[in-house]
Amino acid sequence: MQDPKSEDEVVNVIFIDKCGKRIPVRGKVGDNALYLAHRYEVEMEGACEASLACTTCHVYVNHDYLDKLPPAKEEEDDLLDIAPFLKENSRLGCQIVLTKELDGIELQLPQATRNFYVDGHTPTPH
Ligand code: FES
Repeated sequence: MQDPKSEDEVVNVIFIDKCGKRIPVRGKVGDNALYLAHRYEVEMEGACEASLACTTCHVYVNHDYLDKLPPAKEEEDDLLDIAPFLKENSRLGCQIVLTKELDGIELQLPQATRNFYVDGHTPTPH
């Protein structure tokens, strides 16, 4: 992951950690929110490394930006259904790819995530 090469590709993202601390970072167009969080040591786990097999990258998206994201794929929705502390603005961080339109987005971490991927639990389809 590299720094933005020009201001044109900068996408400002504010992560909000479990304690409510705001962590503003400069991402760029095309960055994945999960890897951006890792780069800045924000505690978004991402146990399955963006392969849509866990919910440890669960985030809340501020409402103004929710509609700017592409709708969740079915796999993402299914996983969110089993995520602890689900809210109507929940998304999986690893599925958020930054665009210029998302400049200023706020991604808040839930109080906790459950890592059934590493625990070996397989979600059942419903
Ligand atoms: S990192 Fe596992 S679903 Fe996002």
